[in-house]
Amino acid sequence: MDPGGGLSVRGLVKDYPGPGGLIRVLDGVDLDAAPGEAVSIMGASGCGKSTLLFLLGAIEFPSDGEVHLDGVDPHELGSDGQAQFRRDEVGFVFQDHCLLPQCTALENVLAPTLPDPRPGDAERAAVLLHRMGLAERQDHLPAALSGGEKQRVAIARALVRRPKLLLCDEPTGNLDGAAADRVADLLFDSEVTGPGRIVVLVTHDPGLAARFPRRFRMEGGRLRGA
Ligand SMILES: Nc1ncnc2c1ncn2[C@@H]1O[C@H](COP(=O)(O)OP(=O)(O)O)[C@@H](O)[C@H]1O
Ligand SMILES: [Mg+2]
Repeated sequence: MDPGGGLSVRGLVKDYPGPGGLIRVLDGVDLDAAPGEAVSIMGASGCGKSTLLFLLGAIEFPSDGEVHLDGVDPHELGSDGQAQFRRDEVGFVFQDHCLLPQCTALENVLAPTLPDPRPGDAERAAVLLHRMGLAERQDHLPAALSGGEKQRVAIARALVRRPKLLLCDEPTGNLDGAAADRVADLLFDSEVTGPGRIVVLVTHDPGLAARFPRRFRMEGGRLRGA
C-alpha cells in the first residue's frame, strides 16, 4: 500500500525492561488500513494489544519499526509535533471511560479542544452528544451517568477533533450486553465517526470483533488474519 494514505505499520517492535533483561512484547507487527477501514484485534491478555495502540497513538515509542498515518511518522516528530499529533490526529477510547469527574459531559467532550478551541468546537461537541443519544445529559457530571452513557461521552470526546485514527481499547469491556451493543452500534455509525476515519479496536468480545470487516489476532508479538 502507498504509505502516503491511511495507516501503515511496518515491522513494529517493542521491548520493555523486565527483571531478567528486555522482554519483547511486539515482534514485527505489520498492519495497513485505508481511510474509512475498521479493524479489530483479539488476543490473550498480556499479549501486547494495548501496547500496539499506544504505539499507534504515539503515547509509547517503538524499539524498532515504523508507523505512518497519511505519510507522517509521529515518532519522528519533535515533542511539539507529537503532542499535536496526539491531540489532533488520534482519538482514544479506553475500557475505563477516563472522564474528568468534576466536569460535565459537555465539558469532557470539549476537553481535547483546550487550550486553543476553534470556532465550531462547542457546536460539534453538542452535535456529537446528540448523536450519542445524550442531548439531555450534556450538563450531567459523570457520576450521574450510567456506564454506557459515560462510554458514549468518551467516544464523543475522542471524535471531537475529527481524528484520522480512532483507537479503542476494549471499549465495551465494562458494559453489559445492551449497553455494549449500543456503544458498538455508534462505532459503526458513519454519521458518528465521520467519513474516512480509521478505527482500530481491541476487544475480548468475539461478537464485537465479528462485526469488523477486517479481523486480526495478536499472537507471538505479531498480527495474523483471523
Ligand atoms: N510500561 C511497561 N513496562 C514494562 N512492561 C510493560 C509495560 N507495559 C506493558 N508491559 C508488559 O507488556 C506486555 C503486554 O502488555 P499489554 O500491551 O498491556 O497487553 P494486552 O493489552 O494485550 O493485555 C505485558 O506482559 C505487560 O506486563
Ligand atoms: Mg490491554
